[in-house]
Amino acid sequence: MKLWVLLSLVLLWEEVQNGVCQQIKRRKEAGENRIRPGNKRVKVRFPKLKDKEGLGKGQSLMTQVLDKGRFLRLGDTLTLVSGKNLELRCKGTRIGWAYPSYLDTFKDSRLSIKQQDKYSQLILTSPSAADTGEYGCWVVLCDGTECEKDPDRTSATYIYFTDKDELFVPSAIHFEIVYLRPDKPATIPCRVTSPQAKVSLHREVPPEEIPVDGTQISYNPTTGFIIQQPSPDHKGVFYCKASAKDTQQISNKYQLLYVEVPSGPPFATIEASSPLAKGGDNINVTCTVLGEPELGVNFTWTYPGQGQRPVNIQETWRLIDRGVGHTTRISQSVISVEDTETIDFGNYICRAKNQHGETAVAASVKSY
Ligand SMILES: *[C@@H]1O[C@H](CO)[C@@H](O)[C@H](O)[C@H]1NC(C)=O
Ligand SMILES: *[C@@H]1O[C@H](CO)[C@@H](O)[C@H](O)[C@H]1NC(C)=O
Repeated sequence: MKLWVLLSLVLLWEEVQNGVCQQIKRRKEAGENRIRPGNKRVKVRFPKLKDKEGLGKGQSLMTQVLDKGRFLRLGDTLTLVSGKNLELRCKGTRIGWAYPSYLDTFKDSRLSIKQQDKYSQLILTSPSAADTGEYGCWVVLCDGTECEKDPDRTSATYIYFTDKDELFVPSAIHFEIVYLRPDKPATIPCRVTSPQAKVSLHREVPPEEIPVDGTQISYNPTTGFIIQQPSPDHKGVFYCKASAKDTQQISNKYQLLYVEVPSGPPFATIEASSPLAKGGDNINVTCTVLGEPELGVNFTWTYPGQGQRPVNIQETWRLIDRGVGHTTRISQSVISVEDTETIDFGNYICRAKNQHGETAVAASVKSY
């Protein structure tokens, strides 16, 4: 069940990213109409230098609108209290925004973005602890129909929405899986809603507090605990504990799984339900790939009766625990041929593809 939740979140995230791109595209189109005074093609380069002088080097593009029309230029972090509406502004006639993906995932109506003549405005009403995260904006530069993010004019601020009842940033997933790999750092994402909170890391069985030395294991309130070089010793169920003033809270649980399958083309095997069949039999040919838990596999089949007869192809995947915390994803594609005829005998070829490459395996089904 939890995996489906994860999967849907991943899909939603992808949709969100597409959404952001489309937004820029739409603006691009709106701009196109504006840049055709007569038949002379005018470049719409923004007055880069002038703007930059106004901004000053290292100064933030983004401001927070305070009461009574006062503005606050934002630095790297900002700590606010939950519940009070947030208004951010960025100067420019075309501005792109970034904010926690959570807000898009749930199509939150509390968030609104409006482009005014000279600035863009982001308003988030009744922010809560869950809205804690990075907010940013950038100038969108257009030259003709090509638009891009101006790398020199971007701003980002991590905003904490503190809430004494929610020391950890709430998450929709209550039991998360963190994959540990020998070749890259792993993050246990227990983020807090106040940079002042004291956070510790705990293993469930056997119960113990993990020593945090700041090098091998460190804590960053905006990301969580980071394990620099994960090893099989780090697997197990973990949780974080936060304390601030007189409150103490425990985070969601995290299952840390150690993964050691190297990255490469899929490791595939193929097997026919029976290598020998007679006309009228049903046959299944199963193509199996073992690989890294989050690495998707695409299957394609080439088979004797291709284009001449209907077949049924079914794909599934699941995670298997190979003991001592090592996990493998098993992905399968099964081609089923019912009521076989002469045209169905021959080679069944399965091509399994992942982002690192392709592997082809074949099984032959003969008549007897
Ligand atoms: C083929 O697979 C289907 C679905 O898993 C199963 O019901 C059927 O019995 C299998 N047939 C053979 C011949 O193995
Ligand atoms: C698998 O196919 C889907 C849809 O055709 C595609 O979006 C995805 O990139 C493919 N994945 C790989 C690893 O080839």
